[in-house]
Amino acid sequence: MPKKSQPSFAIAILAAGKGTRLKSRHPKVLHEIGGKPLLAHVVAAAIQVVPPQNVFAIIGHEAEKVQAALEHTGIGFVLQAEQRGTGHAMLQAREALRRFQHVLVLSGDVPLIAPETIARVRDFHTQHKAAMTILTAEPPDPTGYGRVFRRVAKGKETDEVERIVEQKALRGEEAQRREINSGIYGFATEPLYAHIGKLGTANAHHEYYLTDIAELLRKAGEKVVALRADDPGEVLGVNTRMELAQLDAQLRAKKARELMLAGITIFRPETCDIDSDVEIGSDTVIEPFVQLIGETKIGADCRIRSFSVITNCQLGDKVLIQPGCILEDSIVRNGAQLGPYTHLRPGCDIGEQVHMGNFVEAKKTRLGKGSKANHLTYLGDSEVGDSVNVGAGTITCNYDGVNKHRTLIEDGAFIGSDATLVAPVRIGRGAYVGAASCITGDVPDDALALARGRQVVKEGWAKERRAKTKPTAK
Ligand code: UD1
Ligand code: CA
Repeated sequence: MPKKSQPSFAIAILAAGKGTRLKSRHPKVLHEIGGKPLLAHVVAAAIQVVPPQNVFAIIGHEAEKVQAALEHTGIGFVLQAEQRGTGHAMLQAREALRRFQHVLVLSGDVPLIAPETIARVRDFHTQHKAAMTILTAEPPDPTGYGRVFRRVAKGKETDEVERIVEQKALRGEEAQRREINSGIYGFATEPLYAHIGKLGTANAHHEYYLTDIAELLRKAGEKVVALRADDPGEVLGVNTRMELAQLDAQLRAKKARELMLAGITIFRPETCDIDSDVEIGSDTVIEPFVQLIGETKIGADCRIRSFSVITNCQLGDKVLIQPGCILEDSIVRNGAQLGPYTHLRPGCDIGEQVHMGNFVEAKKTRLGKGSKANHLTYLGDSEVGDSVNVGAGTITCNYDGVNKHRTLIEDGAFIGSDATLVAPVRIGRGAYVGAASCITGDVPDDALALARGRQVVKEGWAKERRAKTKPTAK
């Protein structure tokens, strides 16, 4: 016998709202927690449950910006040009969703939802052959959420739902109800779209509430059920800046916990900001007040000392980042040591065992194995070979006011302190540049280049001056 085909599921993500309560000029779902837009978290969970082409974000407020930020995920978009409520949003998606038997609805502002929970809603919905399944929760403070009222039979609450009542419409005793609507649902598409046209706007916001469909479906004899989430923390929504901060903290605490369980030491994790997508190898130590941002990957046995901010970088193994380093869009290879106060601007490739020290700034620069630039240096648009010593205060003059030029320093070269290297320029293999030289032309391999005034010594000059120059009366 041929296997019965699985019912088809789409996921719709409600993401068109303005987010009035955030008091922001930017779309709500692009506000970030854990270094990623709220909506990106929801999409990441959704595409673990159904393929991206079955996922539709319903967008409206600043739709182009929202679409541009999520386009790379391969999901579809539906425009809700005017935001007239969550029910109205689902109505706009009718054409996109019609060909699916079921649709799971997620909220763009409920970002911590786990794929496993979405799958549980799907399975509960299928098992109960329900027209609507509502994911509920009992958070410590239910204020602000819609409340779910279940059918009571023989003095006990059942799986079946009578209705959802929004916070502002709660009357008397109803306000005590702790079971909230998470805004996450499963629907059979056929009954949903058969009844959605009956939604009205007789409510505090004069909007079409998707929540009202629960009662409409039940009255039409359809089955509406509720499933309680195990972890109420997963379905918290972001409506205010305080909630944004809370969820960001919650997400980062979870990230830190996962990393620690995987063998990474994080001292005072509550002081560190580690973005969701950061990866760290085992036995690496993260000191207090470190920020690891974006797609940063750190190898094993590294130490990242306090007050360093590392954005979109790849660090090898056994790397030591001393306090106060700022590293961006760069690679740091095994065994390198940076800082304190090293600044890597985008495009650097720092070789194995390299040492870079205080107040050394680099941009679009490669340093070969074992090279050193320990103090007060700027290396821009430079190619530095292996075992090069860049003395304190060395500056590459890479910019002529119009164009940028490259500096090439070959293997084993020695750049004396306070040298200025005016690019384009090449310092050959094993060459020496004398301290305080201003180098404007290439230096051949193994040569010494000196480009500074010769020292003049005038014996006794200072003593004579003191004798001749009397202080003027005050
Ligand atoms: C909604 C539910 C509430 C539930 C809560 C859970 C309704 C009427 N209420 O309230 O029962 O407890 O979520 O977090 O649904 N949106 C659109 N188009 C619109 C309006 C909203 O796409 O026209 C989107 C928003 O961008 C947001 C989501 O729908 O992502 C929820 O809207 P929001 O206004 O935040 O609803 P809540 O008041 O939180
Ligand atoms: Ca909300």
